[in-house]
Amino acid sequence: MYSEKVLEHFNNPKNMGEMEDADAVGIVGNPVCGDLMHIYIKVKKNKIEDISFQTFGCAAAIATSSMITELAKGKKIEDAMNITRKDVADALDGLPPIKMHCSNLAAEGLHEAIRIYKSHQK
Ligand code: FES
Repeated sequence: MYSEKVLEHFNNPKNMGEMEDADAVGIVGNPVCGDLMHIYIKVKKNKIEDISFQTFGCAAAIATSSMITELAKGKKIEDAMNITRKDVADALDGLPPIKMHCSNLAAEGLHEAIRIYKSHQK
């Protein structure tokens, strides 16, 4: 039921693991299933210089976290803020309809990390 890209990212996730010196971490939970995701970011000159994730969840949650780290890396934080769950699902060649809720976590986790980063800058 998963696309090849989803399986690829699930079997070989990119940027997985805790980031000890992160500038901010977005922690989000999925109320539908109780799964949990941490997105760590490091920002330099207004760009996402480094990003990683830890996901305690299903295959789709892991694949979407892996994909969003690839989409966001190197982007300006304003542009990263505009990455939607649809962008993530599209980049993975789609998700099964019952798994679309899983893609919320990745986008929300990234946005939450950026919001926290920005709130520290004020
Ligand atoms: Fe929980 Fe997918 S079933 S994030």
